[in-house]
Amino acid sequence: MKVLTILLAGASATRAAFWMEEIRHHGISPFNPNKSYTVFRNVRDFGAKGDGVTDDTAAINAAISSGNRCIAYECVGTTTTPAVVYIPAGTYLISSSIINYYYTQIIGDPNDMPVIKGSPAFKSPTIGLLEGDKYMDNGRLSFVSTNVFYRQVRNLVFDTTDIPGEVAAIHWPSSQATSIQNCVFHLSTRPEDTHTGIFMEEGSGGLLTDLTFVGGKYGAQFGNQQYTTRNLTFFGAETAIMQIWNWGWTYKSISIINCQVGINMSSESVGSATLLDSQFINVPVAVVTGHDPSNSTSRGSLVLENVMYTHVPVVLQGLHGRSLLLGDPVGVVYDGGYATGNLYAPHGPTPMQGRDESYFRKPSTLKLGYVYYERSKPQYESYPASAFLSAREHGAAGDGVTDDTAALNALFKAVAAANFSAVAFLDAGYYLVTDTIYVPAGALIVGEPLAAVILGTGAKFSDMNNPHPVVMVGMPGETGLTEMSDVIVSTKGAAAGALLIQYNLNTPADPETCSEDLPPSGLWDVHTRIGGFAGSDLQVAHCPITPHVPNHIDAACIGAHTSMHITPSAGNLYMENNWLWVADHDIEDFNMTRITVYAGRGLLIEASRVWLVATSVEHHTLYQYQLVNASDIWMGQIQTETPYYQPNPPAPFPFTDRSEVYYDPDFDKDCLHNPYNLDYHNGTQTLALAGSPPCAMAWGLRILSSENVLVFGAGLYSFFNNYATNCSQATTGENCQARIFSIGATTEGEMASAGKVGDLSTVQIYNLNTIGTVSMVTRQGSDMAMWVDNFVNFASTLAVFRF
Ligand SMILES: *[C@@H]1O[C@H](CO)[C@@H](O)[C@H](O)[C@H]1NC(C)=O
Ligand SMILES: *[C@@H]1O[C@H](CO)[C@@H](O)[C@H](O)[C@H]1NC(C)=O
Ligand SMILES: *[C@@H]1O[C@H](CO)[C@@H](O)[C@H](O)[C@H]1NC(C)=O
Ligand SMILES: *[C@@H]1O[C@H](CO)[C@@H](O)[C@H](O)[C@H]1NC(C)=O
Ligand SMILES: *[C@@H]1O[C@H](CO)[C@@H](O)[C@H](O)[C@H]1NC(C)=O
Ligand SMILES: *[C@@H]1O[C@H](CO)[C@@H](O)[C@H](O)[C@H]1NC(C)=O
Ligand SMILES: *[C@@H]1O[C@H](CO)[C@@H](O)[C@H](O)[C@H]1NC(C)=O
Ligand SMILES: *[C@@H]1O[C@H](CO)[C@@H](O)[C@H](O)[C@H]1NC(C)=O
Ligand SMILES: *[C@@H]1O[C@H](CO)[C@@H](O)[C@H](O)[C@H]1NC(C)=O
Repeated sequence: MKVLTILLAGASATRAAFWMEEIRHHGISPFNPNKSYTVFRNVRDFGAKGDGVTDDTAAINAAISSGNRCIAYECVGTTTTPAVVYIPAGTYLISSSIINYYYTQIIGDPNDMPVIKGSPAFKSPTIGLLEGDKYMDNGRLSFVSTNVFYRQVRNLVFDTTDIPGEVAAIHWPSSQATSIQNCVFHLSTRPEDTHTGIFMEEGSGGLLTDLTFVGGKYGAQFGNQQYTTRNLTFFGAETAIMQIWNWGWTYKSISIINCQVGINMSSESVGSATLLDSQFINVPVAVVTGHDPSNSTSRGSLVLENVMYTHVPVVLQGLHGRSLLLGDPVGVVYDGGYATGNLYAPHGPTPMQGRDESYFRKPSTLKLGYVYYERSKPQYESYPASAFLSAREHGAAGDGVTDDTAALNALFKAVAAANFSAVAFLDAGYYLVTDTIYVPAGALIVGEPLAAVILGTGAKFSDMNNPHPVVMVGMPGETGLTEMSDVIVSTKGAAAGALLIQYNLNTPADPETCSEDLPPSGLWDVHTRIGGFAGSDLQVAHCPITPHVPNHIDAACIGAHTSMHITPSAGNLYMENNWLWVADHDIEDFNMTRITVYAGRGLLIEASRVWLVATSVEHHTLYQYQLVNASDIWMGQIQTETPYYQPNPPAPFPFTDRSEVYYDPDFDKDCLHNPYNLDYHNGTQTLALAGSPPCAMAWGLRILSSENVLVFGAGLYSFFNNYATNCSQATTGENCQARIFSIGATTEGEMASAGKVGDLSTVQIYNLNTIGTVSMVTRQGSDMAMWVDNFVNFASTLAVFRF
């Protein structure tokens, strides 16, 4: 035994540190006026000891705050002071909160996860051991919760067990492009303490994945518009998950073991939850809901698929402690598919409450074994530092000025040739490119987290009718595997012909031709960002809003043709935590001042086998998500917003030349078929009056001729008409737009151009939440579900839609 201990200690002493600790750091922030601004910080360089004895609070906080960063009261957001704060192995004792700043990635060594331990004397000026967003004296969060973008926490152990009283390990108001990955929470189980692993009360997120919670009054308390939470395990909490509020929430691969209550979603503010591929073991009450099955506008819509209950007496508890669904105190119960909420099949609402597997199709093509495929962002923790080829050491400047097209193309070609033994590392910086960056099969690419931006600009990206890719993954017809993470693709200035990401690669999954466990290719935290940041030339000074000028368009503010196109040649792609964003406001601006920037199309998918886990597509002119001739598509929790300026101008302006290649909707024809009598004539629509919602508005989701599409949670939102929110206040009716989700061709022209009809009966939508739209579902031109019949808590919710 003794020998073994020594051997293990020896092994850990000689093990190389995580590559991120070892590599040379050249990251820069070119649009920060301070040219010596440093992105990467190792807390040891700021005096942290990690010896479990020294108080490391001040040192860790210094590592985060150094360099005139974006701090409460002085700043609500900026992209110019990004930081990667690295924590090597060790135990870091803290006596007060670690205060997180804007645009910060806090990352531990995944090979020997550092422990952040609250000392018995821990005094929190705020909520969390790690404080994501402090409350100011005025009672508001310092970074507005819906403005907390681009941040990560990874590979840390949080230990609150020595702290008496009330504390949370992480306070995490959060929005798009944020994640917590691979963390462990050790929480007090003393009855007099109120410990919570993650406390989240607001925002518009987001992803949480690979987390383990041990103990606690609450493993987690979650409130947010919508979220995707995956691979979470809870041991011995009083309540594993307290759902404070939401419109929609997707839980996948959740294990709840030895807890008194699993998920308590009975609060009046909870709209819906979807729970997949999960298990409860030794839990007296698995789920508590506030849903009243006799009331179609009742909160708490719940969808369960592939959930196992072992020693669970009550699976679902309803209002007033009534048991709605019993389990088995000594045996095992299995749910292949259960829903409580409104069903449209395709007519409704029909109150549904019960197990009915006929509404749960579970195509095996999207599964690995018994569960839907899932794969976390690779961290390449077994790779040596020498495997990482720095872009800035390989001829790229990353300074936002130099043309890095040739350097990046050469680097990606070199790593692809290395047969997965090398990884291209994009040091923090802005890589200006004037032509397509080609990512060949075989390339592994990692950005310095969320601070590496590929910035397309110039003549090649200027023709609105001839789009040109900024990044092209695979040539059409190419096969192989690629992985990319933590990279942002953007444009600078007018770029009406920029197709930010064209994805052509087919990753063979056929066991005949490759090893059986060959995974899909993956894009984790690969985002598009169009306007609203320093260096984009699409900011407050360039693209002010013009709500009082009818149909004004500034061509200099057309920032892209399309965010992303997954072409028919592509297949077998896993995407996680991707945010395709046309800026609605300027991140650099203290007042979050709104801007009008145009990009035509969001995410067009024409491929087969695509997983979209925690993705969001916002403010594109014609559509956010569009599926044409696509098959085997898994989407869960998706989120969209319609552009705030619409209908001034209405869609399709400024993208008036309809592209059949991109299956642009035909708003003229669609609106002729619209039952609302609108003044839509030749693009000179008068602004909507209450009660006559505009029709020529971006689609949130449009599905044409596709098969095996599963949507596990969707939030399709339209908050504004011409920058006013009156149309999304339920008191006066939800009427920012007539329609937002279309399935099936609405016009003969579309049917012809989409080719085959596809078997839309294999499309299944669960927990669809809409805001500001009159019709929630438009099926082949007919409105099937109206907001008013399904209105819950600001959003309208339907549990199950079948074509
Ligand atoms: C610029 O950044 C460097 C490195 O963080 C810092 O030492 C220096 O004080 C900064 N200069 C100004 C003017 O803020
Ligand atoms: C789930 O998370 C654990 C760490 O908490 C990790 O070891 C495991 O690989 C993850 N599983 C999947 C499918 O990602
Ligand atoms: C669920 O949470 C509510 C507060 O929202 C609480 O009143 C109720 O007691 C909880 N139910 C259980 C079974 O813990
Ligand atoms: C149905 O639920 C809604 C809120 O979700 C509530 O306002 C309404 O009073 C309920 N109706 C009945 C008849 O209970
Ligand atoms: C690439 O590496 C794999 C093992 O990872 C090996 O089986 C294969 O032969 C290599 N291919 C080439 C072209 O070197
Ligand atoms: C932005 O905020 C600052 C600080 O509160 C204020 O002085 C300024 O007038 C605001 N600008 C606009 C355009 O609202
Ligand atoms: C709009 O109407 C004008 C005048 O009737 C016509 O010249 C123009 O071609 C029309 N534009 C479109 C896009 O239909
Ligand atoms: C929005 O509503 C407010 C209060 O009901 C009203 O004063 C205002 O004129 C409305 N604005 C628009 C653009 O309809
Ligand atoms: C749809 O995909 C099938 C093959 O899956 C192809 O034969 C057909 O041409 C495609 N249709 C369109 C309109 O792209």
